[in-house]
Amino acid sequence: MKLKKLGRTGTLVSELCLGTMTLGWQADENQGNKMLDKFVERGGNFIDTANVYSEGKSEEIIGKWLLRNDRENLVIATKARFRTRDGINTVGLSRKHLHHAVKQSLARLQTDYIDLFQVHAWDPLTPLEETFSSLNALVEEGLIRYIGISNFRGWQFEKALSLCRSRGWHEPISLQPHYNIIVRGTELELLPMALAEGIAVLPWSPLAGGVLSGKYRDGISNAPAGTRIGDSRNRENYNKYESVRTKKILDTVAKISHETGKTMTQVSLNWLLCNPAVTSPIIGARNEVQLLENMQSTGWSLSTEQVKEINKASELELTYPYDSGAEDQQNRDRELN
Ligand SMILES: NC(=O)c1ccc[n+]([C@@H]2O[C@H](COP(=O)([O-])OP(=O)(O)OC[C@H]3O[C@@H](n4cnc5c(N)ncnc54)[C@H](OP(=O)(O)O)[C@@H]3O)[C@@H](O)[C@H]2O)c1
Repeated sequence: MKLKKLGRTGTLVSELCLGTMTLGWQADENQGNKMLDKFVERGGNFIDTANVYSEGKSEEIIGKWLLRNDRENLVIATKARFRTRDGINTVGLSRKHLHHAVKQSLARLQTDYIDLFQVHAWDPLTPLEETFSSLNALVEEGLIRYIGISNFRGWQFEKALSLCRSRGWHEPISLQPHYNIIVRGTELELLPMALAEGIAVLPWSPLAGGVLSGKYRDGISNAPAGTRIGDSRNRENYNKYESVRTKKILDTVAKISHETGKTMTQVSLNWLLCNPAVTSPIIGARNEVQLLENMQSTGWSLSTEQVKEINKASELELTYPYDSGAEDQQNRDRELN
């Protein structure tokens, strides 16, 4: 696996990040250990978790595994924001909750620092000053190395950056957005912002929860038991993937899978790897077999034509202000040449 710079920092991470949302859920500790071992054996050093995954079990499994692994060369990312247990202050991005969350994650991870501490989502109740001054203090205290953001909108991220710059605080260095061939709204504001600011981009759900593996081409409603979607109590949340656009996308990914001899999963992950704005997609798996297949999305590349074909099949209908400006940019470029 190639290494990438984590945004503007001097820390190096593998071009795939191992997502561990399935640990303590679909993958027990034994399976989790096997996946963590396989990932590192094959050159991975970047692991993402969150305090809410399996009520902390994901962090606990990683913590035990970390004790017998090379902590210094691993980059461990976790998150806080969502409710961890009943109570009025067990949620959000307040100073009180963030300090508590970091202490709890450190204990479960059995480590004395977190490499990348990410706010899991925007908190409309807490002033941005409170959140980012607290995160700054956590860096200064040596409890976290870098600050990351997940699920913010473009203006929210820029507002956080400007605030940190104006106060001389440590700035957020990464963005963890929902991004895959089906979910491409991320390209409108967030990716241009990340490129302009040198922010690391770590896409979550790169396979749209398994849809892009092609295993539901017969329809989401036929999803078999033993899969995330088949077992979901809220299966209707996935009905949005039964659209004409999704069918067109899956047909195109299947065609390119046939051309390249790679699986639909690998084609879908490689599409993300081909994007210069992307640092490391966060891959998810329930077992070693899926993980190994997913890791083989590296070491080769889709052609420019194949990327364009996927882009065409998955293009979004743009509305103002995203539907204008491209022509003007070209005209201005011509004036320069
Ligand atoms: N920041 C956030 O808000 C946020 C949100 C979600 C996730 N995340 C992070 O992103 C990571 C990845 O998210 P995700 O798990 O949703 O990713 P994903 O790649 O979209 O979905 C992974 C799921 O797809 C199925 N799958 C994976 N590989 C497969 C293969 N080779 N063949 C067939 N099916 C396969 C498995 O589910 P089944 O076997 O059950 O079908 C697996 O659990 C998480 O672990 C977490 O670290 C962050």
